[in-house]
Amino acid sequence: VSRTVYLTATSIDGFIADAANSLDWLFAVEGGDDAGEAFRAFLAGVGAMVMGATTYEWVTAHMEGPEGWREAHGDVPCWVMTHRRLAPVAGAALRFASGDVGAVHAEMRAAAAGRDIWVVGGGDLAGQLADRGLLDEVRLSVAPVTLGGGAPLLPRRLDAGRLELVSAGRRGPFAELAYRVAPPAG
Ligand SMILES: NC(=O)c1ccc[n+]([C@@H]2O[C@H](COP(=O)([O-])OP(=O)(O)OC[C@H]3O[C@@H](n4cnc5c(N)ncnc54)[C@H](OP(=O)(O)O)[C@@H]3O)[C@@H](O)[C@H]2O)c1
Repeated sequence: VSRTVYLTATSIDGFIADAANSLDWLFAVEGGDDAGEAFRAFLAGVGAMVMGATTYEWVTAHMEGPEGWREAHGDVPCWVMTHRRLAPVAGAALRFASGDVGAVHAEMRAAAAGRDIWVVGGGDLAGQLADRGLLDEVRLSVAPVTLGGGAPLLPRRLDAGRLELVSAGRRGPFAELAYRVAPPAG
């Protein structure tokens, strides 16, 4: 069964990028540039992914050319949510979309054919999916860092009735947390 999983690194105070959209704070943590075995195992089971425009721009600015994308994601289709015309990555399986994430999610589920859907970020995009009851899990690598501001992890109110801690572990200096997300009531 396909699960829709928001998997990301975060600071303790719930930011996934600093105010300058930088991840330097993450890469400065021991092991911060290698998301680890569990992440690689998760990636191997991903059949579709989605990211917002800011994340796409960050990724494409920091990857090692189109081969870098191919090495990381192969043929896995990636939806990029944007209102703009963004430059595509040559040879990458990209679909630019805007508006209702419900429609995009239906396309992703069909493409994933039972494999998992990775919500790369940002936080509001994960929130748009959670609003519609389309987010199944949140998996966090919590870095031993506070940022005081930046791009928020998940700018929604999800009370304890909607989030259940399903695992908690440690990877070096990171706390690894997984939560099951229940759909909104009603
Ligand atoms: N720590 C980590 O592991 C991690 C993981 C992921 C991301 N990040 C970083 O976190 C930051 C996230 O940036 P962000 O908070 O700005 O979020 P984002 O989701 O990457 O980008 C937000 C933008 O996506 C577009 N968008 C989102 N939903 C849309 C919709 N339904 N329809 C059309 N367009 C839509 C809009 O762009 P336009 O209207 O401008 O087109 C919006 O301004 C980035 O710097 C990224 O690199 C870090």
